[in-house]
Amino acid sequence: MVIDFSNRENRFITLDDISEEYVLDIRNKSKNDLYYPTYHIAPPHGLLNDPNGLVYHEGIHHIFYQWFPLGPVHGLKHWYHLSTKDFIHYTDHGVALKPDTLYDQHGCFSGGALSQEDYLVIYYTGNVKDEEGKFVQVQCIAQCDSHGVIHKKGPIIYPDFNLTTYNFRDPVPYRKDDEIYLFVGAENVDHEGTILLYKQELEDVSLVRPLQLDVSNFGYMWECPSYFELEGRGILLFAPQGATSEDPNEFNNVFSVVYLIGDHLNFDTGDFKHQRYVEMDKGFDFYAPQVYQDEQGRQIMYGWLGNSKSAYPTDRNMWAHMLTIPRELSIKGRYLLQSPLAELKDLRHSSRRLQSKSEIHRRGFEIEGTLQETFRFSIVNAEGDAIEFYSDREMYTLDRSNMTELYATEYGTVRQAHRHYDMVQSIRIFVDASSIEIFVDEGMTVFTSRFFLTGEWTIETEGITGFIHDLSPIQVKEVTE
Ligand code: FRU
Repeated sequence: MVIDFSNRENRFITLDDISEEYVLDIRNKSKNDLYYPTYHIAPPHGLLNDPNGLVYHEGIHHIFYQWFPLGPVHGLKHWYHLSTKDFIHYTDHGVALKPDTLYDQHGCFSGGALSQEDYLVIYYTGNVKDEEGKFVQVQCIAQCDSHGVIHKKGPIIYPDFNLTTYNFRDPVPYRKDDEIYLFVGAENVDHEGTILLYKQELEDVSLVRPLQLDVSNFGYMWECPSYFELEGRGILLFAPQGATSEDPNEFNNVFSVVYLIGDHLNFDTGDFKHQRYVEMDKGFDFYAPQVYQDEQGRQIMYGWLGNSKSAYPTDRNMWAHMLTIPRELSIKGRYLLQSPLAELKDLRHSSRRLQSKSEIHRRGFEIEGTLQETFRFSIVNAEGDAIEFYSDREMYTLDRSNMTELYATEYGTVRQAHRHYDMVQSIRIFVDASSIEIFVDEGMTVFTSRFFLTGEWTIETEGITGFIHDLSPIQVKEVTE
C-alpha cells in the first residue's frame, strides 16, 4: 500500500487507520536505508522533527520528539518517547502523546516538561482545525507516570487574538525560585515574532508579559523558545522565522536559531537585558533546539538535525530526519560553547591516528584533532563525490556541492563562518551515515549538516593532526510490558 501524501488530507490518517503490514514495511525500509544513522536518535519510520519534553527525572534522561508515523511529511504530529541513563543504552517507550482528544485532534505540537514528585508534567500545543480550516493552538498539560503512561489534563492557555495571530505554540516550562513560568512562541497582531511569558499557579495560568527584547527586523514568528540560567547569566534560545541580517554568513537556512546572553530575565516584568544575538549553528540542518539541566547541573541541548522545507533523499524510504548528538552548553564571554556530551566517549570502540588518507570501516566515527592555520578535511567515495570542510585562515567553509545526492540546492551548498584565533585551534567532527557535526573554536562555532554519499568512504586531510575513533551504535530496547 502507498499513501499519496501530495493529497494533504492523507496527512491526517492515523496509526489506528492503517494496517500492520504497512507499518512493518515502512519500518523495514527505514532501518535498511544506507543513510539511517547508527548513533543518533532517528524515527523508527516516518518523520521526526523537534526534540520535546527534555527532562532529567529520578536518574534518567527523558527525550521526546515530534513524530509523524506514516511517512516523511509533516502530517498529524505525535510525541515519541525514549529514555536513557548513559546516552549509549536507550529505552524505547514508543508513542507518548497521540492526537486523540477534542483539543489536540489535529496534532500534538512541541513543548517541554518538568519533573514533579514521581511523574513528569508535559506541556504541549494542541491543534484543532476551525471551520475555515485554520489551526487553533491551545497550550495543554499532561502527566507521564513512572511507567511512561500519559494522562492528559487538558488545555491551560487559550489563544488571545488581541495579542497573537493563530501562530501561538511551543510552551516550555521553567522553574524559578519554586515558581513555574512558561515561555510560548508566537506571532503578534502586528505580525512580529514574540515570546509570551506566563506564570502558573496550580491550575491557574496568567500572562506576565511578552518578553521585552532589544532586537529589530527579527521576523514574523518565533518558534521553540528555551530559557536557562548558567554562571550568573540568563540565556534565551529561539527560532526567529523571517529574520534577516546584513552579514552574508547569517540566516542562510530555511529558518535559523539564535541565542541571547544577558542578565537574568526579570520574571515580574518580562524585561531581558542582553547582548547582540548570535546564530547558533552555521551548517544547513539545525533547528528547534531545547535545553534542560541534569543532576550535575549540566545544561544539555538536543536539536533537530533537519529543517522543515527541504526534501531529503531518505524520503523514498519513508523516514526523515534525526536529532543531533546531545551537547553540553557553557559560556565564554559573549558566546555559548557547545561540546559533545562527555558520555559519547563511551561510544568509542577503536582509535587510530589520522593519516593524509584514511580508510573508513564504518559509517559512524569521530575525528579529534588540532588544526593548522590552513587545513582541509574531506570524506570522499570512489567516484570522487565528497563533502569538504576547510579553512584558508580567515574563514571556515563547509562545502557539500559535490555530494552524491544533492538536495535543497535552492538554499545553497556552501556555508561559511569566521574563525576565532583567541580560541584553542582544535576540532571534533561527529560523522554518522548521513550527518556531520563539526565543533571548532572550542565549540563556539558549530556546523551541523546532513550529507549523502554512497559507496565506500576515504577520509583525506591536510593540516590536521589527530585521531579517528570508530563509534559503536547506540543500543535501543523496546519496553516490554
Ligand atoms: C518547529 C515547529 C514548532 C511546532 C512543531 C510542529 O519545527 O514548527 O513550532 O510546534 O514544529 O511539528
